[in-house]
Amino acid sequence: MKHDIVEKNVGLMAVLILVVISFGGLAEIVPLFFQKETTQPVEGLEPITALELEGRDVYIREGCYVCHSQQIRPFRAETERYGHYSVAGEFVYDHTFQWGSKRTGPDLARVGGRYSDDWHYAHLHNPRDVVPESIMPAYPWLNYASLDGDRTATKMERLQMLGVPYTDEEIAGAADTVRGKTEMDALVAYLQQLGTVLKDR
Ligand code: HEC
Repeated sequence: MKHDIVEKNVGLMAVLILVVISFGGLAEIVPLFFQKETTQPVEGLEPITALELEGRDVYIREGCYVCHSQQIRPFRAETERYGHYSVAGEFVYDHTFQWGSKRTGPDLARVGGRYSDDWHYAHLHNPRDVVPESIMPAYPWLNYASLDGDRTATKMERLQMLGVPYTDEEIAGAADTVRGKTEMDALVAYLQQLGTVLKDR
């Protein structure tokens, strides 16, 4: 029997197993390369502002992604709780994206506009003040760290190189728009725009 040849030859079997697995992988991955919607921004998508960009860096530095994802799966249990499921075109200006994979806290993909700015300031200062049973850490120091804006323009230039359509005026004015604001201001601004481009569809 021909099958004997495969079963008695470990090397050949390993190669054939790899071939089978790679077919599965290719069937999932290759179509994505040809799907325009995975690389085209959704209608109305704007690059985040200088202040929001600084807030995003605070989000990354503080490790918020360790407990929060930013991707809503296309299942009813998720869309009823969080809103419209996430689509690829929402993330084309995100370098790097903050999808995350762990949900100790709720998904934040559409948290923008769900609460007032005041709620976020209070919550980040001490989550227990607004959600008594919360296990989220407090981030009070963000209120005391002010931004100097020295590196904001450079960050935006790098993103521009990656295809994010910042205008040269936006980059030139970046430092002035963030200087003197606190890291808390920046983080709240970042949170308040999350997912708003597809919010009410
Ligand atoms: C140790 C895990 C953990 C970390 C780290 C964490 N969170 Fe949370 N977060 C939670 C939990 C649990 C909740 C739900 C309870 C609550 O609202 O406080 C939550 C709730 C939230 C909410 C409200 C979401 C909603 O839809 O009600 C926001 C906004 C939020 N977190 C932002 C942040 C930001 C920004 C950071 C980083 C500075 C952060 N979290 C870090 C666990 C975490």
